[in-house]
Amino acid sequence: MYDLSKYKIKQNPVILGIESSCDETACAVIRGRQVLSDCIISSASEQALYGGVVPEIASRAHTDAVDEVVTKALKEAGISANEVDAVAVTYGAGLLGALLVGLSFAKAFAHAHNIPLIAVNHIRGHMAAAYLEQPDLKPPFITLLASGGHTAILHTKSELEAEVLGGTCDDAAGEAFDKVARVLGLSYPGGPNVQSLAEDGEKTIEFPSALVRSISGMTFSYSGLKTAVINYMHTAEQRGAKVSKEDVAYSFQCAAIDPLVKKTVDCAIKLRVPTVTAGGGVVANDYLRKELTNACLSAGITLVLPEKKHCTDNAAMIASEGLNQYLAGNFAPLSVNAKAQISLK
Ligand code: KG4
Ligand code: ZN
Repeated sequence: MYDLSKYKIKQNPVILGIESSCDETACAVIRGRQVLSDCIISSASEQALYGGVVPEIASRAHTDAVDEVVTKALKEAGISANEVDAVAVTYGAGLLGALLVGLSFAKAFAHAHNIPLIAVNHIRGHMAAAYLEQPDLKPPFITLLASGGHTAILHTKSELEAEVLGGTCDDAAGEAFDKVARVLGLSYPGGPNVQSLAEDGEKTIEFPSALVRSISGMTFSYSGLKTAVINYMHTAEQRGAKVSKEDVAYSFQCAAIDPLVKKTVDCAIKLRVPTVTAGGGVVANDYLRKELTNACLSAGITLVLPEKKHCTDNAAMIASEGLNQYLAGNFAPLSVNAKAQISLK
């Protein structure tokens, strides 16, 4: 029997984080906000052969890797399984079969060691990466979230509460990077490859901004931008016109990122919130990092930007969000199930 009321809350617990929502099997050990180990086994190179993530391959790769990555993380942290105070695991959003591998492993670990299980929302994990960068960070702050599945600007009011201020009405920013990569003939994962190509480009093409012109001005659309890039490439091909793919990549990157940066800083100014944080794979983009850093600097806003390895999928961020939930006593029953879709809350 799994009695949730029996656990005593420690201030600086050792938390084992497990992440398996997409193509990274990851495990990390943290004590308080200190990262003791941070391990990843990725199936990205295998997925690249198919031009994107194949769910069946991801699930099988997680099954192969999960025991190895957990053993490695414990070893590198110098922590024995008996010293772990809680297991935090991603239960959604993500690929169902992939999530179930990490979740089932975490349940078995929690049960075997008689410790609480914490079910973590992957998106909240991305938002909690900022605490790893600055362990004494305290809300409120404005959070820019930009990943392969989500794009939003949030007002983080406490460790447990965030209000969505704006976001995409269709594709996520990362999704647009991946689709534009494909039309530019770049391999998976698309985001980093578009960034590399853009490094030799200039802004010679005026693609539509990702910001939808509306009264509130807080709605983004990446589907229209992506289609504009695809149309530009097809039209040029039909006319036999020479295209600078570097310029296409750079012009797209500006249209995708500039409004996100501007609106994030605008929200901080308008709501008088002195700190901005960011998370999600697209935040590993060097152009976004530079622009957000400069915009925050000009506005006198403190920016807490997670390391690139904590922007893309990782387990340290899951453990970090696990700590927020642990301190609030939010433990999950062993019957908790994986969810493919989950809201930002
Ligand atoms: O957060 P993440 O690792 O997984 C999700 O939760 O979705 O984000 C993955 C997304 C992909 O779409 C990938 O192309 C994008 O983040 N990404 C980037 C960069 N690195 C990863 N996009 C632009 N520039 C990058 N350097
Ligand atoms: Zn993610």
